[in-house]
This record gives sequence, structure tokens and C-alpha cells, in this order.
Amino acid sequence: MDSSRPQSVAKGVLVAGASRGIGRALVEELLQRTDFDRLFAVARDWDDHTLPVDPRLQLISADLSDDASRGRLAETLAQNCEQLDLVINTVGFLHEPGGQQPEKNLRQVSMEALQRSFAINAGVPILLAQAVMPLLRGNRHCVFASLSARVGSIGDNRLGGWYAYRASKAAQNMLMRTFAIEWQRLNRQSICVLLHPGTTDTDLSAPFQTNVPEGKLFDAQFVAERLLEVIDARTPADSGNFYAWDGQLVPW
Ligand SMILES: NC(=O)c1ccc[n+]([C@@H]2O[C@H](COP(=O)([O-])OP(=O)(O)OC[C@H]3O[C@@H](n4cnc5c(N)ncnc54)[C@H](OP(=O)(O)O)[C@@H]3O)[C@@H](O)[C@H]2O)c1
Repeated sequence: MDSSRPQSVAKGVLVAGASRGIGRALVEELLQRTDFDRLFAVARDWDDHTLPVDPRLQLISADLSDDASRGRLAETLAQNCEQLDLVINTVGFLHEPGGQQPEKNLRQVSMEALQRSFAINAGVPILLAQAVMPLLRGNRHCVFASLSARVGSIGDNRLGGWYAYRASKAAQNMLMRTFAIEWQRLNRQSICVLLHPGTTDTDLSAPFQTNVPEGKLFDAQFVAERLLEVIDARTPADSGNFYAWDGQLVPW
């Protein structure tokens, strides 16, 4: 626990995109820890969830791509906690069954797919930061981490394809880096980072796993453990950077 913290202020954590995949694994992993008091798990739909019962865990339903829903999230959070110390955004979109798929070539690029990918992969993270900003205030250790993807790296792009996903993750990187700079002016101890989880066995990667080399497809629990280690190791000097699951910097 941060020694600069008044004893009366509860330590709050928020995970967005917590109903499945890496977000859900992060919630499960965080619940094994004892260094926070409140964990807000945000997803669009919590029907039929099987997360463990824990008095620290509060499930909040919100569609983070919707302005009114983000407004209600901010109100719910303000009513239930004084401040957040760690926010992890995992919300992301690559494909949907029977619908939008990553483009294989230029012919498949469409405005509709670009707009949807940019809204979820770039708009949601920065507007989530905007929505929770009142709870990030103060000159104190505070982390905002958002999942990006190595395929959003312009310098690392050697294969092409996946136009909307790549470009929307690159846009997220720029938006979060810009936020990191602004936040550091307000709070020298703030840390905003982008994270690449590695190829992880979730719904998002399921149709694209055939060519993943052996040993390179991680399970979500392994990734959640690694990402929390990467977050824990960060200092304010790291803010605005893009890290992979193993702590290595990813080129822009
Ligand atoms: N899996 C990989 O190999 C891999 C690799 C690199 C980067 N990543 C990134 O890691 C993050 C987590 O991926 P994952 O593999 O865990 O994916 P996933 O299992 O498909 O989960 C995606 C999450 O995003 C949420 N989401 C999608 N569209 C949304 C919307 N319009 N509004 C609100 N929430 C929405 C989903 O919530 P609902 O349940 O409500 O749909 C879900 O919680 C993503 O940002 C992804 O781009 C994943």
C-alpha cells in the first residue's frame, strides 16, 4: 500500500471489459491479492457471470462506447468510492461471428468497419479515462493501463492486413500517450501505459490461432499475471510508453 495514502481512503481498482477474456482473468487474479479494498468490474452484461463472490468486488454494467452509459458509470463510481488507484482497460474489438472480420486486403476496407474499430479500440480507452478522471485526481501514485496490441505498432508492421484493427490500436496509442503527458502535468506520480498481452487464447484470437508458433499462445491467467507484474514494475518515468507482457518496450 502507498505510504503517502491517508489510512481512511480505500484503495480502488477498476477493470473494464471484465466479463471475459483477459479482463476477466485480471479480475480473478486481482481477487487473489490483498493490496486493495474495492474492485469495480465493468462490462456490458453481467447476466450469468461466474466470478467469485468477494465483498470487495462490485459489478457495474456499462457500454463504454455509449456517452450516456459512461456518464452513469462515472456517477456510480462517484457514489461508491473516493478515488481510484489503478484502472485497467481491456475493451477491444477485432471481429464478430458472421459480421465484421479483419481485412485481408485493401478491397475489404470499409468506412463502417473503420468507424466501429476506431470507436471501440481508440474511443473507448480515452473516453474511459475522461469518465474516471475525477477519481484519478490528486498528487499520488496512480496507474491507468490500457490494452493495445503489437499489431498496432507502425514500426513493427511487416505483414500488412487487419487495417481497421491495426490503425485503431495505433490511434489508441497516440491518444493514451497524449493523455499521459497531460496527466503528468497534473500529477507527477501518475503512470499511463499501453500494454501488449501477447497472443492469448480468448474469443478475440480464437479464429486466428492456427499459425501461432508452439508455446506462443498464452492462456488468459498467465497473461493476467504477467500484465500485473508489468504494471507493478512501472514508475512515473515510464508513463506514456508501450510495454509487452514480458516488460519489453514495443516500438511505436
Ligand atoms: N487475445 C489476444 O491475442 C490479444 C492480442 C493482442 C491484444 N489484445 C487486446 O487485449 C484486449 C482484451 O482482449 P481479449 O482477448 O480478452 O478479447 P475478448 O475476450 O474478445 O474480450 C473483449 C472485451 O472487450 C469488450 N468489448 C468489446 N466491444 C465492446 C463495446 N462495444 N463496448 C464495451 N465493451 C466491449 C468485451 O465485452 P463484452 O463481453 O460486453 O462483449 C470483452 O470484455 C483487447 O483490447 C485486445 O485488442 C488481445
